[in-house]
Amino acid sequence: MDPVLYNDWHPVALSTQIAAGAMLAADLLETRVLLWRDAGGALHAWEDRCPHRGTRLSMGSLRDDTVRCPYHGWAFGKEGRCTHIPALPDAPLKAQVAVFHARERYGMAWVCLGAPTPAHAEPPAFPEFADEGLRKVWCGPYDVRASAPRIVENFLDMAHFAFVHEGILGDKERPVVPDYTVETFEDAQYGSGVWAKQCYAYQPQASHSASGGSDIEYTYRVVRPLTTILTKHPPGAIREAIALFSQPLTETSTRVWIIMALNDFVSSYDAMREFQDTIFLQDQPILESQHPARLPLTPGAEVSVLCDRMSLAYRAYLKQQDLHYGVIR
Ligand code: FES
Ligand code: FE
Repeated sequence: MDPVLYNDWHPVALSTQIAAGAMLAADLLETRVLLWRDAGGALHAWEDRCPHRGTRLSMGSLRDDTVRCPYHGWAFGKEGRCTHIPALPDAPLKAQVAVFHARERYGMAWVCLGAPTPAHAEPPAFPEFADEGLRKVWCGPYDVRASAPRIVENFLDMAHFAFVHEGILGDKERPVVPDYTVETFEDAQYGSGVWAKQCYAYQPQASHSASGGSDIEYTYRVVRPLTTILTKHPPGAIREAIALFSQPLTETSTRVWIIMALNDFVSSYDAMREFQDTIFLQDQPILESQHPARLPLTPGAEVSVLCDRMSLAYRAYLKQQDLHYGVIR
């Protein structure tokens, strides 16, 4: 397993999907994860696999903060230790379920399968989430048969707007991408990574509430190998930040979570979600068609031009982060 991703945080569910006393199964990095919330409201993330015969614990039951396996009824307490074996009540209790690190941030459950590193002790930064002047809209999740790095790279790409999002984020009469600046950054707000700034695009309909085209300034930040935040600065009053968080299921399949933070308190919540759905569903067939599915980091494997420099900076960042999962080295 790739230590970079194994020791980092990944989103696996919305917090609201896991009520107190309830369980939920999730998949992450080819690992079955059991999420459950105890009576006190704390979230737990375990391997969703009984240490007795490998059954999915999420098919069992949860009562009084005790998870019971559906197969032979073994009971497991809060720390994942076996507390009862019905078929042999006096047997020594040495079975232990693998327990993962769990957190809740941005209304979502996050899991680290390994050990969080000092640099990534917490889930990625999304500073706009704390801004009460911005409304939060949870979009997706979107299940895509593509590697997470291909999905992040597509999110950073502006040259496809005129083709894939024609009439919404782009205009086929204006396909040129003006030059922009790419730099590495390190700051207290976003942590560290690479960013592209002074990115300009003419957009016929930049957001759900836009009434007509406008020139938008974009800033893209890659804050973790599979996390990116876009901020839009249209000329009007709408401020918007869009965070894309990836839940890598396998090297070539990904569940994508998007949270928008924007100062539009007028539009309907569902309409804003639907706008994002429309955009994402336009990207999906492109992403699923890309070959190879894993993102090639080898120089010369794909042909790039000047306006691909953010994507090249992202690939260089992944190399520097020593990512191996979902990429070709
Ligand atoms: Fe879980 Fe036997 S497989 S109790
Ligand atoms: Fe797109």
